[in-house]
Amino acid sequence: MAIQKVGVVGCGLMGSGIAQVAAASGFQTVVREVNAALVEKGLTGIEKNLNRLVEKGTINEAVKVEIRGRLKGTTSIEDLKSCDLIIEAIIEQLPAKRELFAALDAICPPATIFASNTSSLTITEIATATKRSQRFVGLHFFNPVPVMKLVEVVRTIATDEVVYEEMVAFGTKLGKTPVRAKDSTGFIVNRLLVPYLLDAIRALEEGVGSIEDIDNSMKLGCGHPMGPLTLLDFVGLDTTYYISQIMFDEFKERRFAAPPLLKRMVLAGWNGRKSGRGFYDYTDPQKPKAMKF
Ligand code: CAA
Repeated sequence: MAIQKVGVVGCGLMGSGIAQVAAASGFQTVVREVNAALVEKGLTGIEKNLNRLVEKGTINEAVKVEIRGRLKGTTSIEDLKSCDLIIEAIIEQLPAKRELFAALDAICPPATIFASNTSSLTITEIATATKRSQRFVGLHFFNPVPVMKLVEVVRTIATDEVVYEEMVAFGTKLGKTPVRAKDSTGFIVNRLLVPYLLDAIRALEEGVGSIEDIDNSMKLGCGHPMGPLTLLDFVGLDTTYYISQIMFDEFKERRFAAPPLLKRMVLAGWNGRKSGRGFYDYTDPQKPKAMKF
């Protein structure tokens, strides 16, 4: 079955990025949010991104209009039932995801493929809310979705081989490089990234280096686009804390345990760039200033 129409549930940071990339790759795309204001907010963000691409000359106005024409926002999950593939990018909470997929399972034809963009929850446990575990995969994208070239395509022990290969091919059609991963908590990227980010916090706690020096070390010494503490602020400290808890719960290994400083920053509401403060102060977002602890 060729995928022609893609549904995306959630039009936040990840959902809007996935919807933009799907529409830009030629797929009819329907993106659903819980209310009209959130639909509007998500679509306005996509519009801005597309305008930036026009300004830079990456696409022309006509292409932008075509992409926009393939993209429809909705608040009704009924509007997703004609989609060949539905990708979920809602809040990272198991009960909410299971409830959504159970509702979609009840209204979608048996052939529809379901995918979750979860970064740390177990795909198998989300899939069992439906009667179609064989047509269920993980499609894990990276922020910012239009820029990052990777998608992790995650299979469970129940995923049908043909469906899985179709999703790997879909990743390529989106212009991404798909990697194959088992349904192991954190998949490939977070298995490696989360201990690295947590170690950077531990290094700061132990006074190995300052915030700027830890970041510059990995940027200039290893060629990373962002240092680990900047990346933590970018991903969100609350998000990283949540992922680390799930991974620690699964593996019971110290490398996944949240350092006390991370916990305290999250408790204080210092969640990084989105909250204006994390390891850096973003009062002037163009010139973040390292915090003093
Ligand atoms: N949406 C669309 N395009 C964006 C963008 C966004 N949010 N942010 C940046 N860009 C584009 C810019 O327009 C620019 O495009 P051109 O080269 O065509 O001009 C390009 O990306 C580079 O941007 P900038 O020059 O502004 O800044 P930069 O060179 O510092 O790049 C970055 C920004 C791409 C975010 C880069 O710093 C980077 O790759 N950082 C690491 C990001 C990362 O590791 N992401 C994964 C996080 S983990 C995750 O998402 C999953 C999880 O489970 C936690």
